[in-house]
Amino acid sequence: MKKIQLGKSDFQVPTIAVGCMRINGLKAHEAEQFVKGAMDLGANFFDHADIYGNGTCEEVFSQAVQMDSSVREKMIIQSKCGIRPDVSFDFSKEHILSSVDGSLKRLKTDYLDVLLLHRPDALVEPEEVAEAFDELENAGKVRHFGVSNQNPRQIMLLQKYVKQPILANQLQLSITNATMISQGQHVNMLDDLAINRDGSVLDFCRLNDITIQPWSPFQYGWFEGTFLDNDKFPELNAVINKIAGKYQVSNTTIAMAWLLRHPASMQPVTGTMNLGRLKDCVKAADIKISREEWYEIFMASGNNLP
Ligand SMILES: NC(=O)c1ccc[n+]([C@@H]2O[C@H](COP(=O)([O-])OP(=O)(O)OC[C@H]3O[C@@H](n4cnc5c(N)ncnc54)[C@H](OP(=O)(O)O)[C@@H]3O)[C@@H](O)[C@H]2O)c1
Repeated sequence: MKKIQLGKSDFQVPTIAVGCMRINGLKAHEAEQFVKGAMDLGANFFDHADIYGNGTCEEVFSQAVQMDSSVREKMIIQSKCGIRPDVSFDFSKEHILSSVDGSLKRLKTDYLDVLLLHRPDALVEPEEVAEAFDELENAGKVRHFGVSNQNPRQIMLLQKYVKQPILANQLQLSITNATMISQGQHVNMLDDLAINRDGSVLDFCRLNDITIQPWSPFQYGWFEGTFLDNDKFPELNAVINKIAGKYQVSNTTIAMAWLLRHPASMQPVTGTMNLGRLKDCVKAADIKISREEWYEIFMASGNNLP
């Protein structure tokens, strides 16, 4: 699979990351088939979080591959911390350190390639985050750092104290959840599409070489289901299917190719647990839809241009 550089580092990662939030829905042998099949496709970047399945996703994953050092060195593992199951967010040093230790234990590894702070903590003390990152890096427990669901000022605040570069920002982004893109087309206008909800996070990440990792690339709303083959989106599906026909690929491939066509060099995080669909996602890395096709899909999802 094609590779991109993660943020401003020289760390090369596959264009598509495999999200593991739903892996605890698989039986052990299915999880084994899925993870090994993903690696055979070159999709060896796995996205986790301490909170997924309350830790069970990390466990199912490491058991599925019978994790040991020879397996570990063939994969890139990213995990996240900062959301606590008792419904609070926590970027304290104590929580970050204990969360990473928990992930390492469940994943049966002694290091994470990437650690993301999962969701902004209103009570964040960036000096504490900086201490936690230093300790994790010095102990060899985490090699690279990033954030998720953060706006530009939140990242700037962290980066004022944290000496490691923030390499990635994982954000909700799909064809039907693309306000970070559409607001840029409606600057200074009175309609709702002009509402800047994220402080121009897309431009900020491009300006600062932070890789955007779109999460839920096929979902609409807040985990309401996929927009593909969904009667709620007839016009969008008609356009996607027409373009899929032209390239002789599936609609899944085209929906993924739409994200990859954006020049920000994003790294989408898939959620499927179906190897066939993952294959379709991976195929998107080799397709470049045209400018006209990108805009046709953008408009068919309910956007308009001034
Ligand atoms: N940072 C954050 O705050 C955050 C939040 C949520 C998720 N994430 C990450 O993002 C990853 C992806 O999230 P997600 O699972 O919501 O993403 P998604 O890829 O948009 O959705 C995947 C779900 O859609 C289903 N699906 C149905 N038709 C599909 C099609 N044609 N193509 C693809 N999937 C189809 C899949 O079922 P099948 O399995 O049957 O294919 C699966 O249940 C997660 O695993 C996690 O790593 C991060």
